[in-house]
Amino acid sequence: MINVNDNFLKLPGSYLFTEIAHRVAAYKEANPQAPVIKMGIGDVTLPLPAASIMAMQKAISEMAHKESFRGYGPEQGYDFLREAIAAEYKQTGVDLAADEIFISDGSKSDCGNIGDIFSTNCKVALTDPVYPVYVDTNVMAGRAGELLPNGQWSNLVYMPVSAKNGFVPELPKEKVDLIYLCFPNNPTGTTLTKDQLKVFVDYAHKNGALILFDSAYEAFITEKDVPHSIFEIPEARDCAIEFRSFSKTAGFTGTRCGYTVIPHTVKAKGSDGQVVELNKLWLRRQCTKFNGTPYIVQRGAAAIYTPEGKQQVRQLIDYYMGNAKIIRESLLKAGFEVYGGVNGPYVWMATPNAQSSWDFFDYLLKEKNIVTTPGVGFGPSGEGFIRFSSLGSRENTIEAMGRF
Ligand code: MLT
Repeated sequence: MINVNDNFLKLPGSYLFTEIAHRVAAYKEANPQAPVIKMGIGDVTLPLPAASIMAMQKAISEMAHKESFRGYGPEQGYDFLREAIAAEYKQTGVDLAADEIFISDGSKSDCGNIGDIFSTNCKVALTDPVYPVYVDTNVMAGRAGELLPNGQWSNLVYMPVSAKNGFVPELPKEKVDLIYLCFPNNPTGTTLTKDQLKVFVDYAHKNGALILFDSAYEAFITEKDVPHSIFEIPEARDCAIEFRSFSKTAGFTGTRCGYTVIPHTVKAKGSDGQVVELNKLWLRRQCTKFNGTPYIVQRGAAAIYTPEGKQQVRQLIDYYMGNAKIIRESLLKAGFEVYGGVNGPYVWMATPNAQSSWDFFDYLLKEKNIVTTPGVGFGPSGEGFIRFSSLGSRENTIEAMGRF
């Protein structure tokens, strides 16, 4: 018998959202009539923007003719989409070349796969609570050490975020190499100002660290002074990688498209001291392990940058943020301690009477027929919280809040 990668054996149970899906399925099997409303995983419910549908229909027609048929595309994405994204960044004052943008099948894959290009010795820092993909993929790579009884991993450096620090992570006390930041934040729905984010960029410069900045939820920002991109801070150009997604922005959770930005100025070194561009390494990785996002999907994604596409995306976001407002205000009115939901689609709520996250999750599922996400699934500091997604339908959102 061959040996497996032992790191996988260190991972507890199943992936967070798989565990939730199992519990919900079991409950529904036993209670088929229960009017269960899903506010757990951040999955969108409105259809794709009409501009994307039309662009994809046109692309399908192209595939039907010998003259316009396309086989393998460029692994890093078609120029038409990379250029459209670069033009969009430019409008917010961020200058990027198209070849600094890598199209993929979504930012979950990119956030997970990016670890391939870093040494397994890199010291990793992340917020707590945090999107579980950052933790689990570092466990798989052997960077996390051992799972401790308190739910933390022995080799990871945790930056707790809570109401106590206004959900602004403190800098790591020890020197780290990789820092994962996600803002607007999943799961808390909170944000950093530009000045608060710059503190991390300055740290990265001083310590030769790299920031992995997940801005999958940037389209949901409603307030000024909240950076949409880490590259709005010019110094980030040589110490950050940014991940973005069409999933929540334009309803692509099932269609799959995202992108990763790696400026040519971001560099690191091999163990022999040679300095390399991370852009080149990622290109090499993608060309070897990935065969590109489908042409049809990339056409659909590019359509969100047309005037009609932009307007349709705005309507989607406004709809979901309308839900977020309803959730936030209903829970506040019911006397709960609530955060987020202003610049992101998630609302983070303290459980009443300090109940455990899973106990309250089970209570809501069984007594109110509402599916949430238990905060502890995002890390030990998430214990005592649950997360609501506002990406459901308006009717269900109103109905669920009525049950409180
Ligand atoms: C979430 O609910 O946290 C997200 O939907 C997960 C994801 O985007 O992979």
